[in-house]
Amino acid sequence: MSVNRIVVFAISLLFSAAILSAEEIAREPYNDRYCMTCHGVDGRGNEGVQAPRLAGMPAWYLQRQLKNFRAGIRGTHPQDIEGLAMQPMAAKLSDESIADIVAWVGSWETIAAERTIEGDAARGRNFYSACALCHGDNAEGNEAMGAPALAGQNDWYLLTQLKNFMAGYRGSHAEDIYGAQMRSMVNTLRNEAGIINVVAYINTLPR
Ligand code: HEC
Ligand code: HEC
Repeated sequence: MSVNRIVVFAISLLFSAAILSAEEIAREPYNDRYCMTCHGVDGRGNEGVQAPRLAGMPAWYLQRQLKNFRAGIRGTHPQDIEGLAMQPMAAKLSDESIADIVAWVGSWETIAAERTIEGDAARGRNFYSACALCHGDNAEGNEAMGAPALAGQNDWYLLTQLKNFMAGYRGSHAEDIYGAQMRSMVNTLRNEAGIINVVAYINTLPR
């Protein structure tokens, strides 16, 4: 083997140990390195790469998001930096591997995320009354409305998503039916202060 070849071989080994290609995931959806590389070893979320908590996420929501990322309905807006990181991770998943991944994530222990954001929860509470209609009084989520739980999710992630909905980075794709429903509501928060305060209120709810 020439030195060049050895270097290339060593680099490819390094890569295969660290990350898996989408084809490998599709073949091997249970490989615990894959999703956890970004979402955290226990699926608790990882602020360093802005990947949210998956543990405890219900099957119907997980499945919709993976399919939306795969179809480019989510995670393709050029300003959606974190969504753009996730989209290729779902791009080559088959229906079967999505079903496997959803069942696998469903077997993880539910772990509430740490609280990191402070704001005026009393003001946030006033805003939240409009959200409860879909997300539930305790932000526990409501499958019939297609709205996920917010309590227990990483607060920094909720903040980014609300900003993204407000800016139209998420929820503006023509086929994003559920995202559009959320987008039509987000302006009731008015501005960034409203976003911080509603997240501060969500942080007071049981989880
Ligand atoms: C390269 C890092 C990375 C990998 C690997 C990765 N993700 Fe993600 N994922 C992210 C980021 C970053 C986000 C946040 C996207 C956003 O802000 O819109 C995300 C978002 C998600 C969401 C949306 C959560 C929500 O509340 O809407 C789901 C579901 C998800 N990922 C599932 C998975 C699964 C399952 C795997 C393994 C097949 C996986 N991810 C692998 C980085 C990653
Ligand atoms: C009309 C119903 C409805 C109302 C009212 C509503 N939402 Fe949503 N919300 C949704 C739906 C549906 C989704 C899922 C969108 C998707 O599938 O991408 C969502 C998603 C979200 C997300 C992203 C969660 C995640 O895991 O990625 C956040 C954060 C959020 N909503 C916060 C709020 C807040 C705060 C309010 C009040 C200002 C609110 N929502 C009002 C329906 C609603």
